[in-house]
Order: sequence, then C-alpha cells, then structure tokens
Amino acid sequence: MPEKEASRRAAELRERLQREAHRYYVLDEPQIPDAEYDLLFQELQAIEAAHPELLSADSPTQRVIGKVLDGFKAVRHTVPMLSIRTETDTESSGAVSFDARVRRELALTETDPPVEYAAELKFDGLAINLRYELGVLVQAATRGDGEKGEDVTQNIRTIVQIPLRLQGADAQVLEVRGEVYMRRDQFDAMNERQRELIAGGAKNEKTFVNPRNAAAGAVRQLDPAIAAKRPLSFFAYGLGDVQGWEIPETHSGLLDALAAMGLPVCVDRAVVQGAEGLVAFHAAMGAKRDALPFDIDGVVYKVNARALQQRLGFVTREPRWAVAHKYPAQEQMTVVRDIDIQVGRTGKLTPVAKLEPVFVGGTTVSNATLHNEDETRRKDVRVGDTVIVRRAGDVIPEVVGVVLERRPANVGEPFDLYKRLNGQCPICASAIAREEGEVDWRCSGGLYCPAQRKQAILHFAQRRALDIEGLGDKLVDQLVDAGLIRTLPELYTLGLAKLSELDRMGEKSAVNLLAGLEGSKRTTLSRFIYGLGIRHVGETTAKDLAKHFGGIDRVMNASLEQLLEVNDVGPIVAQSVRTFFDQPHNREVVEQLRAAGLGWDENDGTADTMPKPLLGKTFVLTGTLPTLSRDDAKDRIEAAGGKVSGSVSKKTHFVVAGAEAGSKLDKARELGITLLDEEGLLALLAAPAV
Ligand code: IVH
Repeated sequence: MPEKEASRRAAELRERLQREAHRYYVLDEPQIPDAEYDLLFQELQAIEAAHPELLSADSPTQRVIGKVLDGFKAVRHTVPMLSIRTETDTESSGAVSFDARVRRELALTETDPPVEYAAELKFDGLAINLRYELGVLVQAATRGDGEKGEDVTQNIRTIVQIPLRLQGADAQVLEVRGEVYMRRDQFDAMNERQRELIAGGAKNEKTFVNPRNAAAGAVRQLDPAIAAKRPLSFFAYGLGDVQGWEIPETHSGLLDALAAMGLPVCVDRAVVQGAEGLVAFHAAMGAKRDALPFDIDGVVYKVNARALQQRLGFVTREPRWAVAHKYPAQEQMTVVRDIDIQVGRTGKLTPVAKLEPVFVGGTTVSNATLHNEDETRRKDVRVGDTVIVRRAGDVIPEVVGVVLERRPANVGEPFDLYKRLNGQCPICASAIAREEGEVDWRCSGGLYCPAQRKQAILHFAQRRALDIEGLGDKLVDQLVDAGLIRTLPELYTLGLAKLSELDRMGEKSAVNLLAGLEGSKRTTLSRFIYGLGIRHVGETTAKDLAKHFGGIDRVMNASLEQLLEVNDVGPIVAQSVRTFFDQPHNREVVEQLRAAGLGWDENDGTADTMPKPLLGKTFVLTGTLPTLSRDDAKDRIEAAGGKVSGSVSKKTHFVVAGAEAGSKLDKARELGITLLDEEGLLALLAAPAV
C-alpha cells in the first residue's frame, strides 16, 4: 500500500475503532459484532507493522501493556486537585444547610430565585487527572496530596472506557478529572477468580475487601499486566488545567461536552433548583443506591453557573460552591465477639459473627452472616478479629473481610465448625453431617430438631405426603408457637380442648382439622416414608424404597449395601437414609406414629396386581388442563406405571399440553414428540397398554 493511502486508511480505522469502542464500553450499545471489530483492529495492526512511522500513542492498538515499574514518577499538578467539604448530616437537612450557606455567601435574599445546582453521584473510587494535549491522552496521575500525585499513565491506558484520543477536541491542554472505580459485579467476579488462584496454590494473590480498595490497588499496581486484568471503569466529573478551550458556562454543560468527546459521564445526574431540588435528588438517588452497579457514598451538589462558582471561590482547599452529601455508610469496622452457629428451617448450619454493635446501612448491626464454613475459613474470621461489615439495603449484614493489621495476639483459633459443635446440632444434639461436594453442614435431626419443626410438620402434612386436610402453614405456626406440638406424633394427640386454647381458632376449623388428622391415618408406606422428610428422599425414591422393602422396619434396618440395591438409589441417598435412621429419636418418632394409629398397606397399593398400561413411558405436563390438576394428572400417570418429568427431551414419550402451554410445547413440536390433550391422556390411562 502506498504511504499516502496507508496513512489515510490508518486514520480512518482509528477513528472507526474508537467510535465502536466508545459505543461498546461507554454507551453500552455495541453496533457491530465483536468479530468485525477484531477484523478492523487486525487491519490497523497490519498497516502499522508495515509503516511504523504511522504509529501514534492514541492508536487503539497502543493500549498495550508496558513493562514492570520500580516505582511511580511524581507528577506536580498544574492546578491542585482539591477535595470538597463533606456534609455528614445524612438527613435532607444536609442539603438545606448547603443551599442556605451558598445563598448567604452570594448575599441573596428571600425574594431572589432559587440557585441552580448540578447534582451528581459521589463515586466511591479514586480521583484521577487525565491530561490530554491536542486531544491525545499524554498523562494520567493520582491525586496524591493534591499538589503532587503519581504518574499512573501505563495502568490508566489499559482502561478501555478512557479514550486515548478525544473526539472533536483539540485544545492545547485539557485536563479531565474523574473517578476510577470498579463495578460491584466485576469486583465479585474478580474476587472469585482470586480465590480460585489462591485455592490452586498461588502464593502472591489476595482477595479484596471492597471495590474501592481493589480499584486503588489496581491503579497503583507496578506490573501493568496485572493492572490490565483488574476490571476498572471511569466517570468524568470535572476539569484541571485547560489551555485553548472555552469552558462551558455551566457545570452541566461541561459534563455534556465531556460526554460528547467520548468520555464516560454518569447518566444519574440532574440540574435542580434550590434546596428543594437537592433534597429530592438526595432522596431519589438514595432509593436507587442499591440498584446501581457500583458503590456510591453520597451525592455531590455543585453550583451550576461558572460565574457564580467564581464569585463563591474557595475556603482553604475547598470550593465554596460544592459539597458532598453522604448516605449512611454501608460498610463499617467492628470487632467479632464470638461466632455462633444457627440452625435454619431446613437444618442448614450457618456460622454467624456476633459483633460489637455498629451503625451500618442505617441500622445497628450486632450479627452478620459468615455464610458457611468454607467462607469463614477463606476469610479467616476469628473471635477477636476486627472485620468489615457490610449491609446494603434489605440484604442480611455480612462480614466482608478481616482487617489483618488489627488482629490481636490472643485471637481465636481458625474456625472449625465440626470441632466447635462437637459434631452435634446446637439445638437438638443430633449428628451433623456435610456431604461431599456440599458447602453446608446440616443437622440430621430432621423432624426431631425444634429448629426444623415447622418445616417438618408442613412437609409431613402436605398433599403428596400424609395429606392432612386443614393443616396449612398459618396453623402450623400457631400450633408450634403456642407450644401445643413439638413433635410429629403429638399432632395426633390434639383434641378440641387443646385446640380451643388457640386464638382465632373457630370450632368448625378445629373439627375439620381433627377430621383431617383422623383421615390421614390410613396412608401408604411410600407416602409415610416421603413424609418423614429424609434428605434426598423425594416422592419417587420413597416409592422405590416402599416397593423394594415392603415394610418400614426393613427400611429402618437396611444396611448401606442393601439400600444401594434399590432402584435409582445411589451412595448419597443411601447414606442419608442410614444417617436418618441411625438417630434413635427418629426411630422413636416412627414408633410413636405407629402407636398413634397410623397404618398403611405395606405393599403400598401400587403393588403389581394393578394394571400398568404406561410402564416405561415418560410424560411431561405443560399448561392448564381443563379438569385435572397437575398433581392429579401426575398421580394417575404414576399409578399406571408412567413417569412424569419436568423437562422435554428426546427421551420424552408424551407431552400433555393444556391451556397456555409454553416453551415445553414448542420443544415437543421441535423434537416431534407425541402431543396429548387431557382427553387423550384419559384415553391412554384407560387403554390396556401403550
Ligand atoms: S468534585 C473541586 N465530583 O470525592 C471539586 N468529586 O473530595 C473536586 N468524588 O476524592 C471534586 N465523585 O475523587 C467531585 N461527582 C464527583 C465525585 C467526586 C466522587 C470524589 C473525588 C474526591 C472526593 C471529593
């Protein structure tokens, strides 16, 4: 390619690539496929390789990773990087007092119109000065002490959102100031990767406590290859040194101009009038705070007109025309007094840090979840440690990490849940267990454990188990809370006298419940086994166990090997059944239920004497059938020997579709699977065999 042609094409490609990168990274509206971008990029690389004299610092190919540094060069800021006054009164009065101060300084009276403000977010990252000369990024520096910062150009050039060349701006000097930050989702993903590296044996890796620390660490990383892997973003919010450019008259106009040059400017900003407008903005962004993809610690108000800013001027190192108005902090430091273990409704054991109370996220927090044992060890949280606690919105407060520098000499042992509990549930003393590949330890007490009582009773009473009519969740809450029942067998000792102790329990409902309980006593072995709520024993497994063993005593006494002989029972299920019946109190519950009069067909009513026209056939149900409920249809298919599956695959034999059937119907059509309506299903069920 002749020199002239190459030069023209290179310029064209750079312009195009920059435009597309801006659409992709800043506007979030990509307009060409990635592959096409890559092709253009490669074409530019090829031209630059053939014509090295065409290479320029602002070429998109030059976001290359530089060499490892010994340290950062100091940079003297031409215009000092100031900070702003912080209004710590997080109530709306903070905004009102700022407006009052501005009006006083400007000598405005009550009859003067409201002052116009540009309101924006206070990003929680670190301030950076970007120096563009003739539109090209030549230097990026940290704030440092405001007078002198550090030259972090190499690392900042790897942030794809920051243009290497400004669009339509060729001022001799244009310094843009803004905040480098890390989005929360990217922070979480990065920490996850870090954890994997650490788990894989990487020595020099660490996780970060919050996005701000991670962003600051990345910007000041001496190895740009590492900095480039940290997902950073940027928002512009102001100016530094400017030569040869007419600055817009308002701050909002300035932000618009910066956005038009291709710089990322946050869309959550507004031009508002007077204190009222500031208060409304503060409230609106406060409500939106948890939904934002990045952390903010407040909002910033700036007098919009530059002329007024100049009249207001500065006090010491802070402008009189701007203020940061905070929100309650979502993170605080505090000390771990103890680590408790809570038992959830499903038997899950959760370590919880007991804290020196701290005010965080708008409330006083004295407990924070540590999620599970692995998390606790990974963060190495110990009794006596100083930790960072986070509470955002309605989310349960959590311990984010330990401040190792503050670890006392007499800190507790590394956390060991099993040792701590001596292998026993803190509520019911049943054995605790953690299955392979699972993160959670669990109490094996099941229906015996008071913490799991309500859940266990509801499970037992549900339609597909004992089918106790009239016993729903509200009533279970009442019965348990009033101390009327503690164990499943006690359900059958309820009488009218006891039930009348309950508030809001009419006689009619009491009679209905007693009838429901009576009616549930004749059941089947498989429903009974399912109703016990043994972990991993769903309805199908319960049926397989019932069929295989034919009696509850044989199930209770079966060895692991014998359990493994059952159709579809693998080691996890077998172990779970064994653990359950190894707890003497679970066997007792079974005995007491038998004594209460529960009985069943030991061969389960699904015995081989019944015709099984659908044996070996798999069905999928979708949509609403005209008369049969989902459960009815399932019961009938299973009674006829068929299986009901939740998703359509090549192995599905029939899809039964009703009104408003969705994607399962489409999938069935796609795979050419036989479709049935309710009538078709009923016909099949009545047929001698499929
Ligand atoms: S304006 C002269 N606007 O908050 C005014 N600062 O002390 C200079 N910050 O560390 C700052 N969001 O990095 C401004 N929208 C925003 C901001 C913001 C975050 C940071 C800034 C500085 C501190 C202000």
